[in-house]
Amino acid sequence: MATAIKAPTGVPTDLREWLSAVDKLGELQVATGASVEEDIGMATELLGRSRGSKATIFDEVPGYKKGFRVLSNALGSFRRLAVTLGLPPDESPHELVRLWQERVRKGIQPIPAEYVKDGPVFENVLRGDAVDCLIFPTPKWHEFDGGRYLGTGSFDITRDPDEGWVNLGTYRVMVHGKDRLGFYISPGKHGRQHRDKWFARGEKMPIAFVPGSTPLLFWSACTEIPYGLTEYDWVGGVRGFPYQVVKGPITGLPIPADAEIVIEGYADPNEREVEGPFGEWTGYYASMERPEPVIRVEAIYHRNDPIILASPPNVPPDEQSFYRAFMRSARLRGDLEAASIPGISGVWCHEVGGSRLFNAISIDQRYAGHARQVGHAAATVHTGAYLGRYTVVVDSDIDVMDLEQVMWAVCTRSEPAESIDIIPRMWSGPLDPRIPPEKKGFSSRAVIDATRPWEWRDRFPASQLPTPATRRKAEERWGWLIGKGERPKK
Ligand SMILES: Cc1cc2nc3c(=O)[nH]c(=O)nc-3n(C[C@H](O)[C@H](O)[C@H](O)COP(=O)(O)O)c2cc1C
Repeated sequence: MATAIKAPTGVPTDLREWLSAVDKLGELQVATGASVEEDIGMATELLGRSRGSKATIFDEVPGYKKGFRVLSNALGSFRRLAVTLGLPPDESPHELVRLWQERVRKGIQPIPAEYVKDGPVFENVLRGDAVDCLIFPTPKWHEFDGGRYLGTGSFDITRDPDEGWVNLGTYRVMVHGKDRLGFYISPGKHGRQHRDKWFARGEKMPIAFVPGSTPLLFWSACTEIPYGLTEYDWVGGVRGFPYQVVKGPITGLPIPADAEIVIEGYADPNEREVEGPFGEWTGYYASMERPEPVIRVEAIYHRNDPIILASPPNVPPDEQSFYRAFMRSARLRGDLEAASIPGISGVWCHEVGGSRLFNAISIDQRYAGHARQVGHAAATVHTGAYLGRYTVVVDSDIDVMDLEQVMWAVCTRSEPAESIDIIPRMWSGPLDPRIPPEKKGFSSRAVIDATRPWEWRDRFPASQLPTPATRRKAEERWGWLIGKGERPKK
């Protein structure tokens, strides 16, 4: 068995430890009797679109074994993001963002995964005729989905056949049958690069699919971790101690020793089955249904009373766009600073754009051309490149997390004829709702320079935004007028 290790950084180790930490905060609830056909999807949509709502476990799902559970809305509050990263949960959202961006800026030193012989994931082993993916309560997440998706808060583990490195990537997984799963990976993603290489060789791709694990591991798998770096090692760096993995008995891939469920198998280059449609993160069914590769399942491992970690996309802003905004904004800032760009004071990849389509960066302007440099870099570095659309650069007096302030800057400090650059033929894909089917693959970017123009910045009309000190004073003295604080006694 893997040895139980205590996190020196306070980051919960596995999903169960995470659940008890969240329960202590009063942010966990259990719902019973919800159906996979309709209820769990509907309830999850409500939860995800109500910021700060509790993490919810669906248990006693009709038609499934009691204890086989689905966890929704895990990362839907700032306090739960803090618990997941080992940050103080009672800090304000702005302070949490600052603390995490600072941490990422300093650099997270990867710690390689540690191989162990066994782990709780092997409490139940199903092989041969016993393989059955239908034992898990797998919801139909959206009304018009073409099937049930076991893989949403999940990841797929693959290995580069040439370079040997292992990637963990969140790519949706649909259940086709007892031993067949469909998976969709957009062009350019790391797992897709692996897949393309295996298939170009005419070889089956070994793959391990993890539909339930510790939230931090999932969160890393749906984040732009650099090419060649395994997410286990990045998570090890965040936690301050190595992730424990076991060599998968079928594929030899490293699988998390403490996962709730792991499914191992192979994808044949010549096999396809129709996958989709599935409600996507842009809020549309843009890629509809297509023949996609299939995982032929050879083994299922699961803990007793396994928990599926679920995070289906809904129309943004939703749970997914929220936790991704938090993580992606820090990584985007890190990418910009790694490119030696100075003067960045804030970054926020707005939830309304699914944390990709509308990103805002604030700067202290240092030199002529600085704002455009920031905008173009933010639209093209690894974290900001895939399926972006609008990148807005504002001055540092604008709070980048406040969408209305950002739009106020766009309305008043940009001049359309001068302030907008278009970059054509950028990285997009089938999920882009605005690109017609025959042109999918590319899309353009608008970089909006909403800073005070460099040449006459000193003569630009003074803003009447209260300074932070005045804002604080106003709230202290007069906050009671808007229901904040006590009315002073005479
Ligand atoms: C819940 C969820 C579902 C996702 N589904 C897919 C998917 O089906 N296909 C895909 O290419 N990316 C999907 N993504 C985005 C990828 O996980 C993300 O781009 C990640 O960076 C990919 O890993 P990679 O950088 O190692 O390629 C999803 C993200 C989330 C949060």
